[in-house]
Amino acid sequence: MINAFLFDLDGVLVDTAGFHYQAWRRMANSLGFDFTHEFNETLKGVSRMDSLNRILDLGRVKLSEEQKLILAAQKNSWYLELVNQMTPADILPGVNAFLEQTKRAGIRTALGSVSKNAPLILERVGMTGLFDAVIDGTKITNSKPDPEVFLKGADELNVPAAQCIVFEDAVAGIEAAKRAGMFALGIGTPDVLTEADLVVPSLEHLTVAELLAAVDKAQG
Ligand code: BG6
Ligand code: MG
Ligand code: MG
Repeated sequence: MINAFLFDLDGVLVDTAGFHYQAWRRMANSLGFDFTHEFNETLKGVSRMDSLNRILDLGRVKLSEEQKLILAAQKNSWYLELVNQMTPADILPGVNAFLEQTKRAGIRTALGSVSKNAPLILERVGMTGLFDAVIDGTKITNSKPDPEVFLKGADELNVPAAQCIVFEDAVAGIEAAKRAGMFALGIGTPDVLTEADLVVPSLEHLTVAELLAAVDKAQG
């Protein structure tokens, strides 16, 4: 029995995953190196400082904590230049219809994002107030793949973990969902999201009824 949907934000509801990628590459390029799309998959769902540390390790760049904070702030301001141009048209295809079906089905909803910019993004795309609970980067101490963000979401909704479906585009997010004891729906491709319980390319061609039937079948 499923009673709650927990949605990741970046790359699931809006296409900000591409903005993070652009801004981090701009920072890496400014330090004289680059990184691939494959490496970028390992950054998705990971907090700002953890992402920075992974990128600096890749480029073998050693910096003081103070210098790291400056770089993280620079990346964030490049990222915000892109976010500030967002409008409701930047909600990914199928998301609005899927959320409407979710409400009609009486399923509770939470946002589960490690981004500190989540409230700003929700405002830019007109989604503030749409979720029964919002857990963002300001409310957690451990980034995905730690399950904290989803456990807090389920707790705020008062729904047991086993009754939750997590919607995730990140490898780290799928791991977080599984560690939380939840059904993990991957948004993307099965070759990347290998640990997901089910993978769909986007929410565009999925209905709530189809998803619940698939979960029922998977759980036997
Ligand atoms: C996650 C993204 O949602 O938020 C990561 O998938 C990002 O790429 C993380 O690093 C932290 O975001 P922010 O907006 O706080 O820098
Ligand atoms: Mg994501
Ligand atoms: Mg996220």
